[in-house]
Amino acid sequence: MKVFSFVVLAFLFSNVYAGPIKLLPQPVSVTEKPGKFVFDGGVRVRVSDASLQPAADWFTGQLGALGQGKKPVVLELMKDRNLLGKEGYALTVTPSEVRIKANEAGGAFYGLQTLLQLMSPDGDAGGKWTPCVEITDYPRFGWRGLMLDVSRHFFTKQEVEKYIDEMVRYKFNTLHLHLSDDQGWRLQIKGLPMLTKTGAWRVARTGRWGEFMPALADEPATEGGFYTQDDMREIIEYARKRFVTILPEIDIPAHSLALIASYPNLSCTQLNYPVNAGFRNPTRDDNALCIGNDSVFDVLDKIFTELAALFPSEYIHIGGDEAYKGFWATCPKCKRRMEQEHLNNVDELQSYFVKRMEKMLKAKGKKLIGWDEILEGGLAPEATVMSWRGMKGGITAARMNHQVVMTPWDFCYLDLYQGESSAEPPTYGICRLKDSYTYDPVPDSVDEKFILGGQGNLWTESVANFRHVEYMTWPRGLALAEVYWSPKSARNWDNFTSRMETEFRRMDAADIKYARSVYNAILIPKRTQDRDFAITMTTEVSGLDIYYTFDQTNPDKHYPKYDGEPVRFPMGATQINVITYRDGKPIGAQVNVKKEDLAKRVNEAHHVY
Ligand code: ACM
Ligand code: ZN
Repeated sequence: MKVFSFVVLAFLFSNVYAGPIKLLPQPVSVTEKPGKFVFDGGVRVRVSDASLQPAADWFTGQLGALGQGKKPVVLELMKDRNLLGKEGYALTVTPSEVRIKANEAGGAFYGLQTLLQLMSPDGDAGGKWTPCVEITDYPRFGWRGLMLDVSRHFFTKQEVEKYIDEMVRYKFNTLHLHLSDDQGWRLQIKGLPMLTKTGAWRVARTGRWGEFMPALADEPATEGGFYTQDDMREIIEYARKRFVTILPEIDIPAHSLALIASYPNLSCTQLNYPVNAGFRNPTRDDNALCIGNDSVFDVLDKIFTELAALFPSEYIHIGGDEAYKGFWATCPKCKRRMEQEHLNNVDELQSYFVKRMEKMLKAKGKKLIGWDEILEGGLAPEATVMSWRGMKGGITAARMNHQVVMTPWDFCYLDLYQGESSAEPPTYGICRLKDSYTYDPVPDSVDEKFILGGQGNLWTESVANFRHVEYMTWPRGLALAEVYWSPKSARNWDNFTSRMETEFRRMDAADIKYARSVYNAILIPKRTQDRDFAITMTTEVSGLDIYYTFDQTNPDKHYPKYDGEPVRFPMGATQINVITYRDGKPIGAQVNVKKEDLAKRVNEAHHVY
């Protein structure tokens, strides 16, 4: 009997991955076949065309330790270049070979990513083999991005490259780098050395961003960093080999304090401001460029000349968001510009600026993209709009036949809480995994052809290290990967969370950090007639048990179990403590919420906590 159960157990573990095939993002079509392909003796990749060699080399690099195998992985260019588009692939696995057909190398690369996901999620533990399959796959959108804000906190070249490695697992193809803001300038511009001498550095502060003490007189600016152009060339090349485009953003005309700290004559007030380290500011810094000052355009020409020469991307992002226009309204130079150009208001002044930038970029062979505020005062003729204040700006732009990249904050902002806020590092607002997963980048009223795709955006005011970059990105990045790659009809929440859990195992094996907030309880308070409240409890992942207590102790499965009915908050209790279980084992973090915090939420929509 003992021997028998050992054999059964060994069988179960050796075939731990023999369940349904779990791929993320979900491919267009998957057919499982009998049998498996075993990488016995190692990996041998054959290519039908030299253009496929980089993808082959990348794959060999992933499994390099295995050595040379006998059975081949064949990468082959398709004869019919209309099938599957630029990034699609057809993957066939039989017991004797793996064959990936694609029109272009990028498609073969994505086929290889899928092949890696067919293998055991637990690293080498399950051996190197894949089930036999036939998969046909191609993306819904050509623009599948993540944005990393390297200004609010600087991340090293190696960290950016690690981020690229992580995003390509899920078939993202665009990394938008937010290279400048009030808190740091991050790219060497050879003609403007002060940008990296001054603009890249700020005084060191730690704790709650936005509440820091202002810089002291003569306090050294020791925190920050920047990429030399050689560093950036390496990042661009690293990305290119992984079929990722680096989209550079220089945020102008506002969010420009690091530029203004370096060259103080560029703002309307021309005052000396330090690079902002997350200070609590009683007064507003003049963080916008003076649009009436011609030397501003000379400086921008220098910056964008170097940018255009450095970055191969078709687009350059000029920001354009959240400009405080108050200094423009009173600045003599800005007022003169408005008169000369017959501009009626400061919105039109910003529009004048963006249109002038579009011409400048066009002369350098680049297209302009900007945040949706570039619509205000009139959109530049060929501009692409990145819609962040919801989808409204994107809808307006698409109706004007402009191209759009969707990044509505409430679905795509990776800096927001991803679960019960009392169990998360402090930030603002909330974007749960399910919010990201259920969002669709094409509103009903819009022609899909104008929606290039979308992104997840990670602002890093409250993201002080790379482990937290990972934590904030995953698993919401998984949800967005599926939104941007998979057919809309393939969306299925329970199926997604099950595939996500397989990716959690893969991330554990690769030591990638991710948030488990999706397992935490969600508490929804409702006011009762006697002005106290009752609490409804739920979880995003289905099938979990919730145990709770009001007595300030740590609940486990011997405590009251939530049965689906609202629970009255007892008189005298000060907080509720909750924990989730699955199959008799704890799975979520313990969540403790104070009565006063619940009371604040009573009248709020779920998005605010
Ligand atoms: C933005 O979030 N200000 C684009
Ligand atoms: Zn001005």
